Amino acid sequence: MTHFLDIHTTDPADLRAIIDTAQSIKQARAGRPKGMPDDDQPLAGHMVALIFEKPSTRTRVSFDVGVRQMGGQTMVLSGSDMQLGHGETIADTARVLSRYVDLIMIRTFEEATLLEMAEHATVPVINGLTNRTHPCQIMADVMTFEEHRGPIKGKKVVWSGDGNNVFASFAHAAKQFEFDLVFTGPEPLDPERSLDGLYTTVRNPDEAVAGADLVVTDTWVSMHDPQSARERRHNQLRGYQVNADLMGKAKSDSLFMHCLPAHRDDEATSEVMDGPHSVIFDEAENRLHAQKAIMRWCLGL
Ligand code: CP
Ligand code: NVA
Repeated sequence: MTHFLDIHTTDPADLRAIIDTAQSIKQARAGRPKGMPDDDQPLAGHMVALIFEKPSTRTRVSFDVGVRQMGGQTMVLSGSDMQLGHGETIADTARVLSRYVDLIMIRTFEEATLLEMAEHATVPVINGLTNRTHPCQIMADVMTFEEHRGPIKGKKVVWSGDGNNVFASFAHAAKQFEFDLVFTGPEPLDPERSLDGLYTTVRNPDEAVAGADLVVTDTWVSMHDPQSARERRHNQLRGYQVNADLMGKAKSDSLFMHCLPAHRDDEATSEVMDGPHSVIFDEAENRLHAQKAIMRWCLGL
């Protein structure tokens, strides 16, 4: 069974093949109306379940559109509407869904839920974000970097802000795609210890971004964080805002990324998000192409 659960558990050669396929898929569709199917229809006859236990705009729409363009059909399921949200076990849900659908994408809270789903499903399972990681996002981000600047290998990527789930997938990607990753943020919001060795920490953001090819940030309060943490986090993270002053200290041709949704003028200013370094909407678009390549890889198509 070929699941796409995380970047560090996927072979680097497979990751590279997925990025290359994603670029080809994107090029083949250039200028085509979004509702028009792809020339090849690899998912014809395939049914895909998209399960969301948390809100989503990009993941939900990009997977749904991607499956349809490839000739497959989708059902978008909210965790709370399923028996899963009312006491049915994950294992039984996985076994049952596997009798109906050919592929499962799940966005959930605990990583254990994803892993249990994958253990008991007899069809491929894709990680659409957990509290710990967001691998589909970072595949789109690597694709986006390379489309603008060429190979990411050996480049300097700086993450400014909370050491969260999106950072974790960047850390996994740094090893697999061989780029240098720097974390700059306050100590209480350091990434989890299991990521040690995959990145370096520079507390001072001005020093951290020197020579950066890419500066990345994300929301200061993630979906799994208690809303009560909001004010404290703002106080902790204010100095790590990505603004024009900070971007001015990175390389002159540096890129800026944010997975979105953003709290504009908190973690990054609108000046940066809408400015010349920003590729945030290319990132969002590339979710579509990258995930089509991930689904094809999972299904061997
Ligand atoms: N970046 C991302 O995963 O966005 P959504 O939460 O809208 O899916
Ligand atoms: N870190 C954010 C990413 C959203 C796509 C969250 O988990 O809420």
